[in-house]
Amino acid sequence: MPAPASLPSPCNVLLIGGGGREHALAWKLKQSKHLGELWVQAEANAGLESLGRTCPELLEAKQAFRLQRWCDRESIHLVVIGPEAPLEQDLASVLAAPHRKVFGPTREAARLEWDKAYAKQIMRSASIPTAEGRHFDTREAALHYVNAHGDEPLVVKAAGLCAGKGVMVCSSHSEALAAVERVMGSREFGDAGAKVVIEERLRGQELSVLALVDGSTIDILDPCQDHKQVGEGDVGPNTGGMGAYCPSPLADDGLMDIVQRQVLVPAVDALRREGVMFRGLLYAGLMLTPAGPKVLEFNTRFGDPETQPLMVRLQGDLLELLYGTAAGELDGVDFGFDPRPACCVCVCSGGYPGAYVKGKVITGLDDAAAVPGVRIFHAGTSRAPNGDLITSGGRVFGVTALGSTLKQAQSRANEAASLIRFDGAFFRRDIGHRVLQVGSTRGATL
Ligand code: AMP
Ligand code: GLY
Repeated sequence: MPAPASLPSPCNVLLIGGGGREHALAWKLKQSKHLGELWVQAEANAGLESLGRTCPELLEAKQAFRLQRWCDRESIHLVVIGPEAPLEQDLASVLAAPHRKVFGPTREAARLEWDKAYAKQIMRSASIPTAEGRHFDTREAALHYVNAHGDEPLVVKAAGLCAGKGVMVCSSHSEALAAVERVMGSREFGDAGAKVVIEERLRGQELSVLALVDGSTIDILDPCQDHKQVGEGDVGPNTGGMGAYCPSPLADDGLMDIVQRQVLVPAVDALRREGVMFRGLLYAGLMLTPAGPKVLEFNTRFGDPETQPLMVRLQGDLLELLYGTAAGELDGVDFGFDPRPACCVCVCSGGYPGAYVKGKVITGLDDAAAVPGVRIFHAGTSRAPNGDLITSGGRVFGVTALGSTLKQAQSRANEAASLIRFDGAFFRRDIGHRVLQVGSTRGATL
């Protein structure tokens, strides 16, 4: 299959972001036959050090024009934006140029993620199945709505970006009132809580469906399941994601077809009707309810940690895929997935998703990396002045393993994760439990 027609070879790439997702993307980009120079943000992630050169420019919004000049000077052909914050800041529009493509939607298109109230409005206008709910911009109106719903289980969400932490799944009336107070009273989430979305609490299994969208072509990647709650058995507060596996046997071709027809295509079309073109990664976070899949959220970037198992399974040239998406030339770019399942386990700092201490010395990495089938992606690591590897984030590693079954992938990831040592380290040993436990047989071998 041909590479995108306008893809320069060699192609110089700047990858923005310093999490586990970016380490996985950089690792896969390095395998591309088209890659020229790869520039990364290694000061945020010690794992990126060996994969590319460190981009010297700071990436604050106000310095975007400096970054633009730097990209010109270094002949960057493709900018890949990993995280959501630079998308909200419209870095995609600032850095795009006739001689340079940007993987990642414009601020207008990324609004599907950074404004949950807007996402709800788009879903309503396009009849995309989602939880019943409303948004409010005053505390009084929000409290009134909660009071009117009695003991009905509700979910309260800060409408803006909160790194996965602004969603409160409530079991009682008093919890919902307290959640509204956190968002709109004490403003725990800052400006992200200027609006609040309150919706019915759905029950079922969750599924992450990620798709590359080039404006017209939509290529769906293998479905993943993320585990957002901090504790084993899915208990405790939400995090950015404690681990994920791929492919999920919960999704068969019929379900993926429904997601394409009822969710992804209508979302892209609804934006187009508003004059907004979506180019980048569209991520639908779904709840599989007895009434069919319903959207919990849209993200407009690769999921973290979903990207880690996806990248170890991806067969194809990631640079062709990302460039083709950014250039509107995705049609015809070939890719597939290793049939073996992959499981990613996030090793975290004690206290995460609340406060945690950084700077803990890390050991055991070589032993962990020697476990068969394992690839370790760094997330929150950096180098101390004496060269020691130290922790610098809440999620520190995404330990990712391939296995002939999901069970084997999980065991390998757990074994490797347990060999990584730093003060306060913890991880969930049960990533994948929701399908391993019930022994679901739809799709892949467990
Ligand atoms: P979101 O960032 O909107 O995806 O929410 C984060 C997590 O909160 C989801 O992955 C679910 O686990 C949970 N959640 C969000 N909305 C709902 C809902 N309407 N019903 C039940 N759980 C939800
Ligand atoms: N894993 C969830 C997210 O990336 O938002």
